[in-house]
Amino acid sequence: MAYTAVVTGASGYVATEVVKQLLEKGYNVRGTVRSLSSKDKVEHLELLGQALPGKLTLHEADLLKPGSFDEIVKGADFVFHTASPFFRDVQDPMKDLVEPAVHGTQNVLSSVAKSKDTVKKVIQTSSFAAIVKTSKGPSNGKLYTEEDWNDESKPDKEGGYRYSKTAAEEAGWKFSKKEGVPLITINPTFVLGPVVGKRADATSIIDFKGFIEGTNTNIMPWQIDVRDIGRAHVAAAEVPSAQGRYLTSHSSTVSTKTLSDILSKRFPQYKFPAGEDAPVKTVIDNSKVQKELGIKLHEPAETYIDMATTLISTGIAKPVPK
Ligand SMILES: NC(=O)c1ccc[n+]([C@@H]2O[C@H](COP(=O)([O-])OP(=O)(O)OC[C@H]3O[C@@H](n4cnc5c(N)ncnc54)[C@H](OP(=O)(O)O)[C@@H]3O)[C@@H](O)[C@H]2O)c1
Repeated sequence: MAYTAVVTGASGYVATEVVKQLLEKGYNVRGTVRSLSSKDKVEHLELLGQALPGKLTLHEADLLKPGSFDEIVKGADFVFHTASPFFRDVQDPMKDLVEPAVHGTQNVLSSVAKSKDTVKKVIQTSSFAAIVKTSKGPSNGKLYTEEDWNDESKPDKEGGYRYSKTAAEEAGWKFSKKEGVPLITINPTFVLGPVVGKRADATSIIDFKGFIEGTNTNIMPWQIDVRDIGRAHVAAAEVPSAQGRYLTSHSSTVSTKTLSDILSKRFPQYKFPAGEDAPVKTVIDNSKVQKELGIKLHEPAETYIDMATTLISTGIAKPVPK
């Protein structure tokens, strides 16, 4: 019998890939969204539901409303909790980032606690932001691993997102210990890769589209492919021995000069920013996700070309002709 999985924030960039991979495998997927009436946010999911073997139903749920997820989680085998705000322009970091991240996690997990008889595992989308101590900079003489925690960010405009991810992950582990429900976290670095549909308001998409169009030259250098993040989520649910955190990333940084060279070679008709030739730094030990979950990671060139191809072909990004 097919498994039933709940995916929170289903229409987001990362969650859409998780939904897609679950549907490809024949799961019954219950996706939660803030509003079903936002057609531009749900249309791509409806199309996936029609095209792929699994069954998709969409449900409205609010991270900040206690009990909102109770009925949706009831009877599910797995809960993938990906919903969490990820944007930079915040007015009030506590209200805009920390509260939805932390209270949202607590609300989703309290619904899981009411359905402990069926829910086998919770897979929470955390982040490298909950691992990296930015004040010390990456690779300060050692590699980052799943053992590292970012316990220095503050809930202010500068560190609000990183703080929200650490606090939300801590809430997840606290819940798992108290309720005895197995939790696994996936901790991605900056996620790039092909975009499904036309929704383009994720920070990853905004930054990459900006690079393609020549309006942004700032791309975080530690990165991972969205398809690998999707596979890590699904494998975390399916591999019986999966446990703990999975730092999912390329091991080395990639410079924007390399990104520019790859795009220029593949799309010679367009002009891209020259980028900066920063040194390659090995910053991350990514062996756990590869060994334990059997994930073979995409090469950065595949990620960049596939992301640019989807953005350009859908008209989301308009590169400058030469
Ligand atoms: N992209 C990256 O580089 C990256 C790296 C590491 C970790 N992550 C994590 O991956 C997850 C997904 O991020 P993403 O990049 O896919 O961003 P995204 O496309 O902006 O998705 C965020 C999702 O969270 C939902 N959400 C935000 N605030 C909410 C609220 N108050 N109530 C209900 N839902 C809310 C959004 O719902 P709506 O659809 O209603 O807007 C959206 O579905 C997040 O947990 C993020 O921290 C992302």
